[in-house]
Parts: sequence; structure tokens; C-alpha cells
Amino acid sequence: MNTTNKKTVVITGATGAIGKATALELAKNNCAVIILGRNSEKLLKVKSEIIQVTNNYDIDAVVADLSEPKSIKQAVAEIKRKHTSLNALVNVAAIFTKSRTENSQGLEYTFATNHLGPFILTNELLDLLKAGKPARVVTVSAPSTTKINFDDINGKKKFSSGFLGSFGASKMMNLMFTYALARRLEGTGITTSVFHPGLVKSDLTKDMPKLLYYIFKTISSAPDKAAKMLCSLAVDKKYENSNGTFFKYDGKGIKSHKYSYETGLQEKLWTVSEQLSK
Ligand SMILES: NC(=O)c1ccc[n+]([C@@H]2O[C@H](COP(=O)([O-])OP(=O)(O)OC[C@H]3O[C@@H](n4cnc5c(N)ncnc54)[C@H](OP(=O)(O)O)[C@@H]3O)[C@@H](O)[C@H]2O)c1
Repeated sequence: MNTTNKKTVVITGATGAIGKATALELAKNNCAVIILGRNSEKLLKVKSEIIQVTNNYDIDAVVADLSEPKSIKQAVAEIKRKHTSLNALVNVAAIFTKSRTENSQGLEYTFATNHLGPFILTNELLDLLKAGKPARVVTVSAPSTTKINFDDINGKKKFSSGFLGSFGASKMMNLMFTYALARRLEGTGITTSVFHPGLVKSDLTKDMPKLLYYIFKTISSAPDKAAKMLCSLAVDKKYENSNGTFFKYDGKGIKSHKYSYETGLQEKLWTVSEQLSK
């Protein structure tokens, strides 16, 4: 991999399949890695595993529940106490639920965790990323075709789960967020891309009906290939100038659904997200 100097990278979802494999890959590539997770016990276990495998001691663990804006802001404050600049933020964490639950602000849990969490975290870390430029923001999504119900973004009137429901909509939001962010980042020295890891073995969809979950796991691959690519998108010089691109696990730039490119809707999502972040 073609990188210059030591990079400092924040990664969410580090206790999950893709996040952990990517954090490991970043550590192998001599990055200082700040791993974020909601469960401190799990997080410390991942930290010691990464150190043991890579001998890279520059691994910091910061607790952050992405469904709770207050927890994200505490994590950002902790990062800012320890660091004056960052080179990359990798948004990996997500949740897949079959029923509607809420965070402490009454926001639907999938929306709060999968979209609003990375939205807030990214915006709160932009000053550190600017200080570390050239810098990147990479968000893990999927080629979602699910439209956003702006009249009921919180799923209060009608909640549906899964790829065509709240989860699919949250992955559409990841795409639209990246495209809207790319416009805002033009000329700042920070670039942003969005990444589809392909089907990867993990427990993400364990809330699916059992048979579907079993089939899903059977046809999925180990996270290594996706992790290598995600690591490259975060720190490889080759991707330094890629802004607003949707990448697939094989490194190819791909098109997302045409709905995701509607700038009016991207901006509407940005405004709603800003309002709900307060
Ligand atoms: N697996 C696939 O086939 C696939 C396909 C397309 C896209 N993706 C995307 O890839 C990403 C990673 O998925 P994965 O398969 O690696 O899933 P995973 O193994 O279930 O990992 C999910 C991660 O998100 C964390 N997380 C969940 N809720 C959180 C919260 N409120 N606050 C902080 N962290 C939270 C989990 O923490 P805990 O360990 O505490 O639960 C875990 O570390 C997701 O964005 C997913 O949408 C996956």
C-alpha cells in the first residue's frame, strides 16, 4: 500500500466483523488506530487482540454509543483531548433490527444509529480532519434502492424493518450523506467516499428470519477482502482525490440507485439531520 507518514484513523463498528478486520488491517499498515464501540469490555478485548497480532501499540479504545448524540459528543471530546489532528474517519457501525425501538430522544433506533450517528460524528470531527489534511471520510453502505419517507423519517406512523424498510433507508441515507458531504468538502483537503463491502459473514442480520439468516451467512465471504479495500480507501495515496465516489469491494467505482443522486433530497436529508442533531 502506498501511504506516506504515520496516519491516525478513527473507526466505528470495531467490535463487528468488517470493522474489526479493517482496524486490524490499518494497524498492520502502521496506522495509529482509534477504535470506537458501544461496549467497553468488547472494545478492550479487540484492542488487545489487535496489539497481540500486529505488535502495533498505537491503538486507542473510545466508548461511543452511536445511537445517542450525547455519547458521540463525549467520545469526540475524549478524542480531541488526546489528538490535534486526524487523517481518516471510517464509519462502519450499523444495526439491523426487526422491530421499532427508540433512543433516549425518541428517535427510531436504526435511523439514529446508522445515519444520524455517523452524521454527527463526522461533522464533529471535521476540524481535526482539516488539521490532518489530506484527510478522508469513508462510510460503509450498500447499493440500497429504498427511498426515504421524509414525512415519517422516525417510523412513528408506519415502521417496516429490513432491506426495504428502516435498514435499507438508512443505507440510502449513508449514500446521500456522502454525496452531500463531498460537495461541502470540495477544496478543503478532505475527501469522502462510500463503500459497499459485498456480502460478508457477520451477525449483523441475526434478527432476520432464521432460514434467511442462515442462507445469507452461507453465501457470504470472510471480511478480509472488504477490510483490505476499506483500509486502502482510508489511507492509500491512490484514493486521496476520490471525492463522492461509491466503491465496491473490488475497488471499482460503481453507480448507486438514481434516487440517491437527487441533490434536492440529499440537502433535505442534511437539513433534517442537522435539526435532529441538536
Ligand atoms: N455484512 C454484510 O454482508 C454487509 C453488506 C453490506 C453492507 N454492510 C455494512 O457493513 C457495516 C458493518 O457490518 P458488519 O457486517 O461488520 O456488522 P456487525 O458485525 O454486526 O458489526 C456492526 C458493528 O456496529 C456496532 N454498533 C451497532 N450499534 C451500535 C451503536 N449504537 N453504537 C456503536 N456501535 C454500534 C456493533 O457493535 P456491538 O459489537 O457492540 O454490537 C458492531 O461493532 C455496516 O454498515 C453494514 O451495513 C454489511
